[in-house]
Amino acid sequence: MIVRFACAAVIMAVTAAPAPAEGDAAKGASVYKLCMACHAIDDATNKTGPSLKGLIGRKVASVEGYAYSEAMKAYAATVPVWDEASFDTYITKPRDAVKGTKMAFVGVKDEGKRADLIAFLKSKQ
Ligand code: HEC
Repeated sequence: MIVRFACAAVIMAVTAAPAPAEGDAAKGASVYKLCMACHAIDDATNKTGPSLKGLIGRKVASVEGYAYSEAMKAYAATVPVWDEASFDTYITKPRDAVKGTKMAFVGVKDEGKRADLIAFLKSKQ
């Protein structure tokens, strides 16, 4: 009896494991409003922060003419590319991921919002 219950619990835990979140680019556009004061997305303009056009798949700290912090340049040596995983880690809590970054932004804690943001960024190549 106890064994059968335990098995059911294990099966439930396995089937309840989250599928990789697929974001919604339209919803991500409104998450991007948190970024737009500092980042352009439709062209290569650098504002307080570098343009985010084509970010997913782009090398870390690679925008020509943008003065990155030493912290971000050092980060590029360990995490060379902004892919979905590395960007997700960074944007959850930027100042934890890149100690000493000059990006003054607290982060996006909500996993669903991050997935939407990633879908939006991927649509802006
Ligand atoms: C208050 C201004 C500000 C806000 C708001 C902001 N950023 Fe930034 N961001 C910066 C600055 C400044 C840098 C450069 C960081 C450095 O060199 O340490 C940066 C760097 C980045 C980088 C690294 C880019 C590269 O070329 O390697 C990414 C990715 C990024 N920001 C994404 C975002 C996203 C996504 C948001 C919104 C959810 C956001 N930022 C909000 C100022 C900001």
